[in-house]
Amino acid sequence: MKILKTIEELQNIRKNITSNVGFVPTMGALHDGHISLIKKARIENDVVIVSIFVNPTQFLPGEDLDAYPRKDEADKKICEMCQVDYLFMPEIKTMYTKEEVLLKAPNKSYILEGKTRPGHFDGVLQVVLKLFGITQPTNAYFGKKDAQQLSLITQMVKDFFLPINIVACEIIRESDGLALSSRNIYLDEKQRKDSLLISKSLYAAATLVAKEEKDVKVIKEKIHEVMQTLDLEYVAIVDREFNEIKKIELNNTIILVVAKFGQTRLLDNIWL
Ligand code: PAF
Repeated sequence: MKILKTIEELQNIRKNITSNVGFVPTMGALHDGHISLIKKARIENDVVIVSIFVNPTQFLPGEDLDAYPRKDEADKKICEMCQVDYLFMPEIKTMYTKEEVLLKAPNKSYILEGKTRPGHFDGVLQVVLKLFGITQPTNAYFGKKDAQQLSLITQMVKDFFLPINIVACEIIRESDGLALSSRNIYLDEKQRKDSLLISKSLYAAATLVAKEEKDVKVIKEKIHEVMQTLDLEYVAIVDREFNEIKKIELNNTIILVVAKFGQTRLLDNIWL
């Protein structure tokens, strides 16, 4: 595995690659969720590039940019173990040098996750577009857990006519159902137990749909019932393009739940 720090190094390598390139962009602190993306990229491509870059433009003022976990040495080992070919670890000054052309995410980036973090998705799209420009992947891998991010990136690729296949990867869960997240470590024992109600509520919703229930109102009620008195931030039922829907459309629906456990905010979703 080669570790690259500059854009020139990566571009020089990229221009000599004529086969499929799989790209997994990350902000590091790699866990099993990331590993599953990298392994999928490894299987499906001749060359695999992973980037680790804690992108400042997707953090709002006052958010945890400085406290964001950095585990460079452990991450390098994980990438090596997953047989990554190139690990791109640029510095901030390499990625952002001057006042630059900005990307504005569409209005639907200001709902749900974008409502609590207005401007967050502008920064995500900005850095992903830069990374796509440098790596020019054939396939780029994103987790379904960050469903709104995935939807916006898919739209960006279409809107800018980028010849990149976006691969949506399944959510990886603990054996008891909790979706993997680097924030799970902040849960105390009770919160960890309570957090299981999130996936339980999603499975209960999916069971209702399997029994032919299509009314979004009924399904939302079920989720509220399962979540009991927990601090539910939102339940949303949207199509794959993040438009709110009234009736479940099979193969085109995502049910999203966000709940808070003390200071820890957990997201989960299920794709129907
Ligand atoms: O999902 C993430 O880790 C980040 O938002 C991404 C896509 C790497 C962009 O910084």
